[in-house]
Amino acid sequence: MKTLINGLSVFSHGNSKSKPILFVHGFPYDSNMWSPQVNALQNLYYCITYDCRGLGSSPVGDGQFTMELFVDDLKYIIDKLKINKPVLCGLSMGGYIALRAVERMEDYFSALILCDTKAEADNNEAKLRRAAGIKMINSEGIQKFVNGFVPTCFMENSIKNLPAYKAALERAKTFDPVGIKGCLLAMQGRTDTTAYLNRIKIPTLVMCGEEDKLSPPSAMKSMAEKINNSEFVVVPGAAHMTPMENPEFINTTLLNFLNKIS
Ligand code: MLT
Repeated sequence: MKTLINGLSVFSHGNSKSKPILFVHGFPYDSNMWSPQVNALQNLYYCITYDCRGLGSSPVGDGQFTMELFVDDLKYIIDKLKINKPVLCGLSMGGYIALRAVERMEDYFSALILCDTKAEADNNEAKLRRAAGIKMINSEGIQKFVNGFVPTCFMENSIKNLPAYKAALERAKTFDPVGIKGCLLAMQGRTDTTAYLNRIKIPTLVMCGEEDKLSPPSAMKSMAEKINNSEFVVVPGAAHMTPMENPEFINTTLLNFLNKIS
């Protein structure tokens, strides 16, 4: 079911009395990236996805986004839907949102799942890459940016053979450039959540694609080691977009984790 909450497109699947899982997608994607997980879990769990501000079918507004605004949106959705202590699952930019949300209000959540993400803020090199991305969108258009960025998130094999890759690539090209640039600015300006990692108390699952170059397994392993109640899993046959590239493995790992914590 689709609901508009604060203008954002929010999608709920399954029985609202089941244990809730709130999925936050990566950049420059939308809620569709979690379809394989929602399909696999919705009979057992109440699965909620949404399009982050500026992406998918959610509004762009003035495009002046911050990570804090993204967390405000997440909190607003939880409050509005009256979801009790969801499991929070975020990939990459969704992981930045999830980590900051946990730092701000850990008692809102029962567990945390981090896919292909990092706690560190952008270093100078990353900040300059964001700025170059914005410049490219302004001067050469969204297509050029998306055609350059999206393939860096996937394995060669996914690029050649995964229909979901092509669909995500084409969808991203339809997004409003103002929204894409707003997300780049929000990521560029986000705070570093590393210091909170060893204070996280909720059970945490950390997953990383074996060929992820944006948040490599060695970096994610050391992130997981800082979280007390955590487990770390390397996802075979995947780069950065693990839920799309190896959905069977991700779904099984999610189910094992969710079984363990309930
Ligand atoms: C994502 O997948 O959300 C992005 O790669 C995050 C980023 O650019 O830092």
